[in-house]
Amino acid sequence: MKNGIRILIVDDEASITDALSRLFRLEGYEVETADHLESALVALDRYPIDLVITDLSLGGLELLQNVKAKRQATEVVIITGYGSIPQAVETTKAGAFYFLEKPFEPEQILLIVEKALERSRLIAESTKLRQHFTKRQQYSHLIGSSRAMQTIYETIEHVAKTDTNVLIIGDSGTGKELIANAIHFHSRRAEEEFVKVNCSALPKELIESELFGYIKGSFTGAAQDRIGLFGQAHKGSLLLDELAEMPIDLQPKLLRVLEERRYRRVGDSFSRDVDFRLICSTNRSLHDAIKNGLLREDLYYRISTITITVPPLRERGEDLQLLIEEFYRRFCERYERTLKGFSQAAYQRLFSYAWPGNVRELQNVIERAVLLSKGPYIEAVDLQLGTSSRGGGLNPEFYYPPSMKWDDIERAVITTALERVGGNKKAAARALGIQRTRLYSKLSKYNIVVERKRKQ
Ligand SMILES: Nc1ncnc2c1ncn2[C@@H]1O[C@H](COP(=O)(O)OP(=O)(O)OP(=O)(O)O)[C@@H](O)[C@H]1O
Ligand SMILES: [Mg+2]
Repeated sequence: MKNGIRILIVDDEASITDALSRLFRLEGYEVETADHLESALVALDRYPIDLVITDLSLGGLELLQNVKAKRQATEVVIITGYGSIPQAVETTKAGAFYFLEKPFEPEQILLIVEKALERSRLIAESTKLRQHFTKRQQYSHLIGSSRAMQTIYETIEHVAKTDTNVLIIGDSGTGKELIANAIHFHSRRAEEEFVKVNCSALPKELIESELFGYIKGSFTGAAQDRIGLFGQAHKGSLLLDELAEMPIDLQPKLLRVLEERRYRRVGDSFSRDVDFRLICSTNRSLHDAIKNGLLREDLYYRISTITITVPPLRERGEDLQLLIEEFYRRFCERYERTLKGFSQAAYQRLFSYAWPGNVRELQNVIERAVLLSKGPYIEAVDLQLGTSSRGGGLNPEFYYPPSMKWDDIERAVITTALERVGGNKKAAARALGIQRTRLYSKLSKYNIVVERKRKQ
């Protein structure tokens, strides 16, 4: 437990430093000593120190300030001689953990040190968590609390620590690039480049020279040397989007780079080391691509060591709720709009729509609605959504946000049921599984006016 915990003891009386050193070493701590302020500051620079015990009269206050400036989590215990209580109180105000009057018993100081170290550990942990959190916020902005997203977060954390290749599969707009960012920026490669290539956006005949780079004069148009995207991604990460679009005759070359961790620029006479993590993403089935001869199977196995599958948004009701709230908040802030939220109908529309364009579409819809809404509420028309809806048919799938009140849910269920059957109350009652009289009383309770549509 105490392994690696280092205590610095500062006192000009050798008898005290000796006795305390012996005491703490016996307990399993590592101990450094200093007999005046300057040597204490040197020790602080040299080692990571978890706790300092210092005599007040040796510039204890100054040392304390230095310690705290360097590392907030390091605790300081002050030892005071007789009659210096008022100054000692000052040091606790300045952040000392405790002051202890001489003479004291060994058990006393051991206990205090243990308590101080516990606080130090808590502070260090919360600082680490906060840093982790800000980094996450800064780089990934991933929103979602569904089971699927939680599994994705866990996989990100797990693969970030390794160098394995990762394949991300999901429909367009589901957040594949955001996930790739999270992997890169959580990894030890975060400070290095993250190079992104969309294979379907590059002309086929250019892909090789773009990826591998080239030597001046190796072909017409090669006016100067070019390090290529592999070279650029060296030590960092490389995202290949739509890998199945890569020309089939180039795929063995890519496989060789991944296996040998070396590549050769076009027209070059020797090959170079290269070290990057490969992340591939795709929004179509790679099994089909293999079957159709567009993707080599051996390459597929190489790149799919870890596979992350992102389900479409319509299968992630919980995330939908969070994303709506977050995008709404974000765009209201960006466009300085003070709206009161969504009207009931608008909310219902958001939750019944199928979101074929996934999160990207949702984001655009909310942005446009926030911009265009006349307020105070965003109305269903402001969303300008097409007809694509979830479920449908005779087996409607309802999703209502947890914050919605029961009366509102009941009203929404009844109106939706009536809409589906063209205003036919008998059919609606049957669909809802309730007596017609009960439906009538609900209609009057909620003031629902039914318009009967003519049969077409
Ligand atoms: N979970 C999420 N949280 C917050 N924003 C998201 C999330 N998923 C996607 N987005 C946003 O949706 C948009 C599309 O995401 P992204 O570009 O990562 O999708 P993609 O899967 O790579 O799409 P494509 O297949 O079209 O390349 C981006 O603006 C992204 O910020
Ligand atoms: Mg993408």
